[in-house]
Amino acid sequence: MSESPSQSQPKSLPPQLPAPSFVGTDHPVTEKSDVIIVGLCDDAPLSESAAAIDGLLGGVITNLLEQGKVSTDLGESMLIPGPGISGDGATLVLLLGLGTKKKLDREAAFSQTSTAIRLLVSKPHRKIVIALGELLQSSDHDAIVAGALFALEGQSIYRTKSPINVPETVCVAGANPTAIDRGVILGESINVARRLVNEPASVVYPASFADRASDIAKEVGLGCEVWDEKRLAEENCRAILAVGSGSEKPPRLVILRHNGGRPGEAPIAIVGKGVTFDSGGLSIKPSDGMVDMKCDMSGAATVIGCMRAIAKLGVKKNVIGFCGLAENMISGSSYKLGDVIQTRSGKTIEILNTDAEGRVVLSDTLNVAIGHNPSSMVDLATLTGACMVALGNDVAGLMTNDQATCDTVSSAAAIEGEPVWQLPMFKLYDEKIKSKVADIKNIGEGRWGGAITAAKFLENFVGDVPWVHIDIAGPAFADSPKPHRDAGATGVMVRTLVRWIENQAESTA
Ligand code: BES
Ligand code: MN
Ligand code: ZN
Repeated sequence: MSESPSQSQPKSLPPQLPAPSFVGTDHPVTEKSDVIIVGLCDDAPLSESAAAIDGLLGGVITNLLEQGKVSTDLGESMLIPGPGISGDGATLVLLLGLGTKKKLDREAAFSQTSTAIRLLVSKPHRKIVIALGELLQSSDHDAIVAGALFALEGQSIYRTKSPINVPETVCVAGANPTAIDRGVILGESINVARRLVNEPASVVYPASFADRASDIAKEVGLGCEVWDEKRLAEENCRAILAVGSGSEKPPRLVILRHNGGRPGEAPIAIVGKGVTFDSGGLSIKPSDGMVDMKCDMSGAATVIGCMRAIAKLGVKKNVIGFCGLAENMISGSSYKLGDVIQTRSGKTIEILNTDAEGRVVLSDTLNVAIGHNPSSMVDLATLTGACMVALGNDVAGLMTNDQATCDTVSSAAAIEGEPVWQLPMFKLYDEKIKSKVADIKNIGEGRWGGAITAAKFLENFVGDVPWVHIDIAGPAFADSPKPHRDAGATGVMVRTLVRWIENQAESTA
């Protein structure tokens, strides 16, 4: 071969992630700006900023509300000329319906801010003032900042003219510098994960993903180790190598380390499925099922986003992230149906469907992770279509070998407003993955309970470590946009995992 396939691909990455500067302000209404965002609730008088603007505009907001021409309902909005047209303040005012004030939680702070910013950025605005904080708890002000950044990242990264006009400055009323810093870290880290997923598989493949991970590690001060195919062979990671064997692009394993805790303290492990493209292999997917399979490394991308945030936040806990990276392709060297692989753990697995490759990659990745003696472990994977059948597009499935640990993940998810739902792990499911020729097989009996049989397979590789498996096949990648986000990568579970890890740092402090 005269040229490696990667050389025929564009080396340059899409433009940098959006980076407006975020500042606080105590005078949102008199701040000279292009537009100010104010919220309207149905169970509360006008907020301080809305009332001040109403005064400056001679009661326009009150009149519009009285005449029913503007609504306080969640999801409603109206853009009106602001006091800044002729004097001080903002040129435009975005009136944002927020529904019931009592129900405004952290998730609302994040997604309503993102909704508002997405409404605005189809037009150029140099400076946007967000005056939603007065309707929210100050502990949720970081979520406003994160939501604003979230709005500025989408899937149209290869449009020659971006449909998103990134403002130069975003002014967040009432937010203190700590909240702003934290929100920027969270928002950027979610967007890092989303960008990795939205880029095509010809750009993001195991080696380039690993390069990106190591760049990020350097930037934020994480330890980083990359195992190439030679090291993977030395480490007996035969399962990862098998999945990658059909591809021109060899597999990788990335280990990121954050030493924020006591030296010697057992780390928390987070593990991600990083199948950079899932063609199904010889059990090939139909075109419709393959079209979005660049998203099959979303678990690994979440690990990167989460580790980045943990490092930048300086969380006082030891955390190790693992990304198992392989491309599932078809060629003369693909792994085959009927193959038996001895995994790194020593357990043998029979391959009866090469499209059930995520669990195969994770078998070795989880085994490497438990070698670091973690106190607990979470894995994230776009693992099964069956989980989407069970829970739909928006909800992640949780499966566990330790209920108490699973409950801590559920409560972190509840605080961040990322929907999760637990599926059972009864012993009876173990029967379904018994193999006639090897210790276990990589599919269940028929398609029933497919999310659970996949988790049961993984359970074989986690030893005694308290472990939670999160199947993000549904929420990781969206077919269609919503008011608060573009279609494509969602960055799901970055917020939840950061919160989960921070909670553990607090409880041991
Ligand atoms: N990556 C897919 C699961 C998936 C499907 C993720 C749709 C996101 C959206 C996974 O590798 C897969 O192909 N799973 C198979 C398993 C089956 C062969 C047992 C599936 O779900 O059909
Ligand atoms: Mn597959
Ligand atoms: Zn897959």
